[in-house]
Amino acid sequence: MILLLVLCLWGPSLLTARAVMDSTARKTVTLSSNEGHLFREEGVWNYSSILLREDLGLLILGAREVIFALDLANITDKRAMVKWQVTRDMQVKCSYKGKNLETECQNYIRILHKMSDGRMYVCGTNAFNPACDYMSYKDGKLTLENKQEDGKGKCPFDPFQRYASELVGDVLFSATSINFLGSEPVLMRSSTESIRTDFKSSWLNEPNFIGMEHIAEREQSPEGDDDKMYLFFSETAVEYDSYSKLEVSRVARVCENDMGGQRTLQRKWTSFVKARLDCPVPDSSLPFLIQDVFRFCPGKWDTCVFYAVFTPPSRTSPYSAVCAYSIEDIRLVFSEGKFKTPVPVETSFVKWVMYSGDLPFPRPGACINNDARQKGYSQSMDLPDKTLQFIKDRPLMDQAVQPISDLPLLVRKGAAFTRIVVASATALDGSSHSVMFIGTEKGSVLKAVNYDGETVIIEEVQLFNLSEPVKILRLSNSTGQLYAGSEVAAAQMPLSSCGHYKSCLDCVLARNPYCGWDLTAEYCTAVSSTRPDTPSDVVQSLREGNASRCPSIKNSTALNMTFHPGNTIKLLCQPGSNFAQVQWLKDQQPLVSSEDFQIKSDGLLILNASAETSGLYSCSSVESSKSQQYVIHNVAYELRLGSGRAGQWEDTSRLLPQVQKNQHIVVALQTVVVLLSLTLVALVLWNVYKGHFSFLPRCFSRGQEAEVGQDSVPLEASADKASGEGRNSNNNHNRRAEEKDCVT
Ligand SMILES: *[C@@H]1O[C@H](CO)[C@@H](O)[C@H](O)[C@H]1NC(C)=O
Ligand SMILES: *[C@@H]1O[C@H](CO)[C@@H](O)[C@H](O)[C@H]1NC(C)=O
Ligand SMILES: *[C@@H]1O[C@H](CO)[C@@H](O)[C@H](O)[C@H]1NC(C)=O
Ligand SMILES: *[C@@H]1O[C@H](CO)[C@@H](O)[C@H](O)[C@H]1NC(C)=O
Repeated sequence: MILLLVLCLWGPSLLTARAVMDSTARKTVTLSSNEGHLFREEGVWNYSSILLREDLGLLILGAREVIFALDLANITDKRAMVKWQVTRDMQVKCSYKGKNLETECQNYIRILHKMSDGRMYVCGTNAFNPACDYMSYKDGKLTLENKQEDGKGKCPFDPFQRYASELVGDVLFSATSINFLGSEPVLMRSSTESIRTDFKSSWLNEPNFIGMEHIAEREQSPEGDDDKMYLFFSETAVEYDSYSKLEVSRVARVCENDMGGQRTLQRKWTSFVKARLDCPVPDSSLPFLIQDVFRFCPGKWDTCVFYAVFTPPSRTSPYSAVCAYSIEDIRLVFSEGKFKTPVPVETSFVKWVMYSGDLPFPRPGACINNDARQKGYSQSMDLPDKTLQFIKDRPLMDQAVQPISDLPLLVRKGAAFTRIVVASATALDGSSHSVMFIGTEKGSVLKAVNYDGETVIIEEVQLFNLSEPVKILRLSNSTGQLYAGSEVAAAQMPLSSCGHYKSCLDCVLARNPYCGWDLTAEYCTAVSSTRPDTPSDVVQSLREGNASRCPSIKNSTALNMTFHPGNTIKLLCQPGSNFAQVQWLKDQQPLVSSEDFQIKSDGLLILNASAETSGLYSCSSVESSKSQQYVIHNVAYELRLGSGRAGQWEDTSRLLPQVQKNQHIVVALQTVVVLLSLTLVALVLWNVYKGHFSFLPRCFSRGQEAEVGQDSVPLEASADKASGEGRNSNNNHNRRAEEKDCVT
């Protein structure tokens, strides 16, 4: 009994602990090592809207005052562009109204949709005077028709405000502010029968619109239900009595063919219902807020899952989270859940409690279905006043929508999550996996997969500079590419890139559903391209991360090196993955960091070498996967005390070519680094000999190790590039100061 109780108490926190897993990405890679491309045009910023035209092989990219048509296969190839600039006059008018001339009084392209006739619908903020237009691509040219339709309610006035829109059968659904001040938020359908939300704080209360997703369920609905539009946003909650404003995340829903009411709710949604959206992150006092949402539908509409990223309100926690919601859970809350109702408690104070009375018929917020039609309600205009008045006053559901398994899929400390898209990958055994691509505030994309409740971050790809948040992500099935936009550039990268895994262990321990190691051809291959009749030659172990079928790494032959008393020596050894631990042995005895031996992230630093320094040094990089340990990389150095002058270095270089060919590739790269170092040392020595430099004595004289590193030799960068690990290698200025050593 006591045990049961203990289990019950521990159960949830154990689960929680599993969700908050080791949130380090196994690999950190650069865009270029991931076969990516970058697009940027001189003088153009804010690449924050994207439309994929897979039918034309184009990526339509909206920026500030300009729209580009780029080759979908290679976005560095610009096919066409068209400018849509505001006139000087409009700019001045905008700035008279108190807006910033340079940042706000410009035309930020915000909406790009494909129309059924092949043209595109484009809207821009147009110097705080939103406008929309039609655009076509013909004979290699992008052309705007200059229709300049009113964009109020479709596109935001304010370029810094979030918005959402979706085009369904050439009808635009949009969520944004309809006025200059940004104080009148609407969810609107623009058509001859325009419909919008009511201006009531119980409907939308200072919302931040995030995304909108269309779910076509009419065709497969035995109940004759309508298609739905789901809106995701955050807003100030009305239902909590707290002293400060409390923001919560929401999902709202409307029926696509809602016509509004006859008298009550005339030209307003009769189907607008909303619920709180929870993403429960342990130890957070305030609810996390939704930042982006992606609809993932592996089959028909009822298999759809919404993946969303969440961050804490105003940086109250260092974590970000991903939660996934099944459409069925959301549907149940709206179709069968209880409503909340306001009750006045004091003169000016309202409390929201669960409504437990009888509901009018048809159910408030429901779409017109067969049942309603049978009872004589064939469209929303026929709905009785009781139903309409109910929903007008009570659009909020009592119950909140919980994520699948009631837990986040991922909680991670560090760069805040900004955007998410999800792709499906078929593994070697035919199983399907949802691969999440999560954009961060630091310009990177995390690639993560959940295996039976365990989320693994396969890699973090640095697309943009650390100061450039990912502002938009799009996925193309037809090219198998991911496209991203930021304020300063757009980027593209393949969903799967297996070439950067250089060994069987590296490839298999990655647990990347797209990749497997081909034992015959000895390379990491894309599994979708492997023939189904030869899978036994390919190794993949996604759930277990079991690499026992991989040949073990051969012990490398020691590189011979000669040193002199008082030298500072750096023996390079990269861990090979962010999950690996480096172990150094000297003459088979474990080395621990001490005054003279410093184990760094990229190698061993030996200060103030002496006769005792001689010996065999070996470094192995050990990665553990599910309590199994694998040596993924090793390297050895034989250090010998040199006799005579420093000129002895030539001896070492003569020895180097004897390194055996069959060694692991990294060892070969190490050789390159060592050779480069030796060349550099030779050059430096020559220069010193010639009297060009004078710093050398500080590095090489005895007993002055404190001075080491004052003058750096920028060898780390080439080492990074050569080994392909690419940690920050596009950011050489980020090199930690401690890495500046006298490399010998
Ligand atoms: C546009 O990009 C510039 C340059 O990065 C940035 O400073 C500005 O905030 C961006 N404007 C908007 C509306 O995002
Ligand atoms: C992409 O396009 C650019 C510019 O047109 C070209 O220089 C580059 O070689 C192309 N890259 C690939 C991989 O096709
Ligand atoms: C990153 O920043 C550096 C220096 O500020 C700049 O030269 C480089 O072009 C930037 N890269 C990108 C992708 O924006
Ligand atoms: C891409 O794939 C997803 C899931 O496999 C599918 O739902 C979607 O319709 C596809 N999109 C296109 C444009 O083919």
